[in-house]
Amino acid sequence: ADPEPVQDFCVAAAKTAGADGQATFPGFPCKPESTVVSDDFFFAGLSQSGAAAANDSPFGSAVTAGNVEAFPGLNTLGVSINRVDLAPGGVNPLHSHPRAAELVHVIAGEMLVGFISTAGKFYSKMVGEGESFVIPRGMVHFQYNAARNGTARAVTVFNSQLPGVVLAAPSLFGAEPEVPDAVLAKSFQVDGEIIKLLKSKFQN
Ligand code: GLV
Ligand code: MN
Repeated sequence: ADPEPVQDFCVAAAKTAGADGQATFPGFPCKPESTVVSDDFFFAGLSQSGAAAANDSPFGSAVTAGNVEAFPGLNTLGVSINRVDLAPGGVNPLHSHPRAAELVHVIAGEMLVGFISTAGKFYSKMVGEGESFVIPRGMVHFQYNAARNGTARAVTVFNSQLPGVVLAAPSLFGAEPEVPDAVLAKSFQVDGEIIKLLKSKFQN
């Protein structure tokens, strides 16, 4: 979904002190090719298990991002990768990616993977080790480990260097500044007490 590259690569330059790291279209500024080394095209960040972090999280999940911010060599290449670890009963909670389709490839255990289309149809599948499921761009989706014991693990691959993520519940109930209770109550067709309860779960 990202723009086509117009050169072989454009390894993102390290953020300089004082710079805010804001991306410029179509990505980040390139570092000079004379300073590019093989390690710029290498990323080991997904080698560490997220199982402990998943256990510690209230959702029972941990997502380790391999996007351009973690892996500067991806800049302008239109791809990225994450690792998803799910504890037993854990869910990578409902979210969407505004800039990419997502290919979910399960590498351990099995998980229920699903998304909801713009027509309001729910598509889902139990996906086992070695199997894949694709989430169309922008669709709200999740991964859920229904097992009572046994972790599950997937790699997810995106056709964007920075897919972006909108977490459904935190974006609505944990936004800063707050979305007015009246807007949420009317939108969800519930009374304000329910909105206050939901906000209490997602506000820091
Ligand atoms: C999984 O849905 C991910 O975004 O990595
Ligand atoms: Mn996702």
